[in-house]
Amino acid sequence: MPARSVYLETFGCQMNELDSELVAGQLRALGYRFVGEPDAADVILYNTCSVREHAEQKVWSRLGLDRLRKEREPHVVVGVLGCMAERDGEDLIRRMPVVDILCGPGELDKLPALLDNAVRTRDSLQADADAEGAKSARQVALQGSTSRRSGTLAAAQDTLEMLDLSRAVSPAGGEGGHRGSAYVRITRGCNKFCTYCVVPFTRGAEVHRPPDHIVDECRKLADAGVIEVTLLGQTVNHYRFEHGAAVTVNGIVQPQKGRAYAGGHRADPYRGTGVTTFADLLARIHDEVPAIRRLRFVTSYPRDFGDDVLQVIRDHPRICRYLHVPAQSGSNAQLKAMNRGYTVEEYLEFLDRARAFLHQPEIGRPLAVAGDIIVGFPGESDADFLATARLLERARYKNCFIFKYSPRPGTVAYDKLPDDVPEAVKRRRNNELLALQQRISAEVGAEYVGMELDVFVEGLSRREVKRAARAPHARGNGHAHAGVALTIGGRPLGAPETLHGTPSACAMPPLSEDEAPRPDAAPRGVQVSARTDGDLIVHVDLPADRAARAESLVGRVARCRITESRQLSLVGELLD
Ligand code: SAH
Ligand code: SF4
Ligand code: F3S
Repeated sequence: MPARSVYLETFGCQMNELDSELVAGQLRALGYRFVGEPDAADVILYNTCSVREHAEQKVWSRLGLDRLRKEREPHVVVGVLGCMAERDGEDLIRRMPVVDILCGPGELDKLPALLDNAVRTRDSLQADADAEGAKSARQVALQGSTSRRSGTLAAAQDTLEMLDLSRAVSPAGGEGGHRGSAYVRITRGCNKFCTYCVVPFTRGAEVHRPPDHIVDECRKLADAGVIEVTLLGQTVNHYRFEHGAAVTVNGIVQPQKGRAYAGGHRADPYRGTGVTTFADLLARIHDEVPAIRRLRFVTSYPRDFGDDVLQVIRDHPRICRYLHVPAQSGSNAQLKAMNRGYTVEEYLEFLDRARAFLHQPEIGRPLAVAGDIIVGFPGESDADFLATARLLERARYKNCFIFKYSPRPGTVAYDKLPDDVPEAVKRRRNNELLALQQRISAEVGAEYVGMELDVFVEGLSRREVKRAARAPHARGNGHAHAGVALTIGGRPLGAPETLHGTPSACAMPPLSEDEAPRPDAAPRGVQVSARTDGDLIVHVDLPADRAARAESLVGRVARCRITESRQLSLVGELLD
């Protein structure tokens, strides 16, 4: 088979980013080559998200472009992976026949076979350029995925676990990730069934990976140079593995279905009795893989946080004091309609408890909390909305994602609750909360000024990447600057520029006046972008005589003093 070039674009959450990394690893091992532009690829893959309609629209517009290209170049293979493939199923192909491959997030281990099938069939059909035949090529690729979707969950999970276990670990960091930083999945799926949410349908039932697999994966990553691990799960703190109930197939312990258990809100009474709780898992990774300097986890569910977890975080210095724990609303009526399973009072009690355990700014260990809110959920009155604004004031998030409710077919809310908040009201409430959160974020940021703390250096700041790209000596993919070539495997060391810390593409808008390179090429410093263990972005200026150190700092933890707080980031200076 000639080398195939693949363009893979990822939408959605960190879970999807990890999936894309695993898919890319699999395909690379089979000889596929990855390219950065769809036009340069003969295989175009989208790893998609269905959580809001807007996320799906982005993919529809990409597919529209692919359709035009395919009219000119019929050999191109287009695949839709992930949650949107799972949710829209064959309707997606009916609406957009340009799609050759459909592969849900629970089927990704099948992707190489599907792709091989599609590529081969297309190759043979291209020879006789038979339009009818081209249609059947699409169906061949699709057949595998649809039969897999109706397969049993248990069988699906076995092979998916193998996909995680066979992860190709590279010291340069993951797909689109940062050097020294990696995601590790600990649970798949979700059992919560919040009434607005598609995830339990697209990702399936909650299963927990065996703790030995997780610890081994962390160790492998650490051996390859990773020093920051982010554990992933939709309700990550709900992790729990009962060893007595473990099932082994072909010598491999299988992931275990999540089940309801008593305990939850306070300490877990089962601790130390043949069960690995989330607290145990954190402590194990911390103690058994000391090379991991930063252990983080997302996303937490407010109800399952026992004191045991908070205690473990406090007692283990390399566990980050960062909680992303969405409230969704500040109104009990809305929380009930959302089926969130907690009250505002319980949520706030948890935050107070977490701060009492973990907020220690005096030793450079503040607790940073991030949230998610949905505005305009069915039935949201002005009073409900005001209650949410009050919750934001009380919660004092370092940042908060605010989403306008998007009805998703197949969910309880879509079927039972009319989408009765007008779009204009949703928009207004969204903007009001954004403005409120902006003020709170600025206040939280200001509390960091003067603090000395550890930061994880991710790469050049976005400003620096823009500068370097425009500099007269910038060449090819590389970004030569102040005598330092700051690239990894041809990828510039740009850092994401969101307060959330989620890696995002580094767009390069035109330089503003003050950023434009000056005609005199006197050596000057560089600015790197780093993150506190609470996920706040810190920009650090390295003076000209220390600029050469930038390369060696990337992917490392450094001590820093915060000197200033700006709109979207903090400013700091290195202490060593
Ligand atoms: N498992 C995580 C969140 C996963 S989805 C948790 O429960 O915390 C990420 C966020 O998208 C959610 O927290 C919610 O705020 C938002 N979201 C999910 N479904 C949505 C919908 N239908 N409309 C608007 N926002 C939604
Ligand atoms: Fe969706 Fe709720 Fe599960 Fe989060 S906990 S993934 S919001 S169903
Ligand atoms: Fe989106 Fe699926 Fe993640 S719907 S948020 S990609 S789990």
